[in-house]
Amino acid sequence: MKMGKICNWIFYVIVCFITLSLTSCASDDNGNDASGVLAPVAQEATDISLTSFKANWDNVFRASEYVLDVSTTNDFSSFVDGFNNLSINQLSQSVTGLMSNTTYYYRVRAVVSGVISGNSNIVSAETNTEFPDDITLKSATENNFFVGVAVSEARTNISSYDEIYMREFSSITAENDMKMASIFTGIDNTGAIIYDWSKVDALVDYAETNNLNVHGHTLIWHRSLPQALENFSGTDQEFEDLIEQYITDVLTRYQGKINSWDVVNEAIDDDPNVQWRDTVFLQRMGEDYVEKCFAFARAADPDIKLFYNDYNMTFDATKRGKVLDLVDQLLLENIIDGVGYQMHIDYNFPSTQQIQDATDELVAKDVLIHFAELDVKVNAANDLTELTEERAMAQSQRVKEVVEIFNAIPQSKKYAITVWGLKDDDTWLIPENNGRPEWPLLFDDSFDKKSSYQGFLEGL
Ligand code: G3I
Repeated sequence: MKMGKICNWIFYVIVCFITLSLTSCASDDNGNDASGVLAPVAQEATDISLTSFKANWDNVFRASEYVLDVSTTNDFSSFVDGFNNLSINQLSQSVTGLMSNTTYYYRVRAVVSGVISGNSNIVSAETNTEFPDDITLKSATENNFFVGVAVSEARTNISSYDEIYMREFSSITAENDMKMASIFTGIDNTGAIIYDWSKVDALVDYAETNNLNVHGHTLIWHRSLPQALENFSGTDQEFEDLIEQYITDVLTRYQGKINSWDVVNEAIDDDPNVQWRDTVFLQRMGEDYVEKCFAFARAADPDIKLFYNDYNMTFDATKRGKVLDLVDQLLLENIIDGVGYQMHIDYNFPSTQQIQDATDELVAKDVLIHFAELDVKVNAANDLTELTEERAMAQSQRVKEVVEIFNAIPQSKKYAITVWGLKDDDTWLIPENNGRPEWPLLFDDSFDKKSSYQGFLEGL
């Protein structure tokens, strides 16, 4: 009796083994073919957004990798760029840079010991039509870092702007209103600076009322020079005293209200062989003028976070080296807290790796990091007369990469990402300045979110 039971079990196991072997060898609905390798079972897409989804599939025993195809047609007669035969060594893959409100199809194959299975079942995924309204840039970044926007006093207290500033952003920076030429309007007969605080006061009040942080931009910049300093006939020492006075007055007036400032902007020369840009500050105050300005600012208020801000930092390694040397020097004196990498970039330049490497070099320094002045040009080649869906997607992908790189910075070093303007027709890159149209921001002319907005969220 006992022996009979054992025989039954052995018989049962043999039958199961033969059945399983036949199943895995035959060509069936899942596309298992003569390769002998079991095709994966593709699962429902997850994490669906306006421009992306995540394709998922089940494990195949001993598979070393999987191969994914994504198409807009279920006969896979063409493929989404970059998603034909894409090798992956995990059980899911984010498919990004897609069009909204579009149906995509995916299938996957398994590779076992170099042998590729047939295709899995085909899964369809439809990207979203609407932006999610339960998540905003501000809610998605809360407590991690500031998400800022460049504003002007003239574009506040206008409901269409206000609504988005409050909803999406946690910080503002004056695009122009806090520059020296706006505040320092002259010198009176006694030699004292004449100030116009009106726009700064208004912006600071606006921020306070609406619970927004203010990042000050910028105390010293050669392109925002008051006439009175340009034509200053006093001695170099008198010039320097005015700069000290100006920095001290601005910082103390807004003490506790503007907690961080770009102290000096763009002081390093673009010529690899020249350290300092030739400016009136250099001529009047000497090669240590940057150091002096930071020291004046620190002395005015030791609690204010002091930043150095410059452009082309992501791809010009020589210039970056000069800036990082300056940062080392200022750190030795404990007169700097942060560095702004201006992010005036293109949808296809610089490379993601360049941005990553430049960021890594900054992470190695003991400073807060600001991805400042973010805008992403899509029309540098002047090949567009309107923003195409394809270019908008490429822009979105770029914004996502930049945000991802920032988000991966150690928490204690993340200061802010600041977008350089709210909507495309507010950009400084208007055709009159730029010679061609551009659409570099996160909102379009009608205050509607663009794909680049979605890219920002996806990078988090
Ligand atoms: O407000 C006046 C207006 O009254 C006048 O009629 C008009 C005539 O030109 O000029 C208007 O001022 C312009 C101002 O932008 C406001 O639109 C200035 O001419 C123009 O020079 C100024 O450009 C600003 C530029 O800095 C120079 O200050 C841009 O908006 C601003 O985006 C840009 O920002 C800089 C950052 O501060 C530093 N990094 C580079 C970045 C881009 O250049």
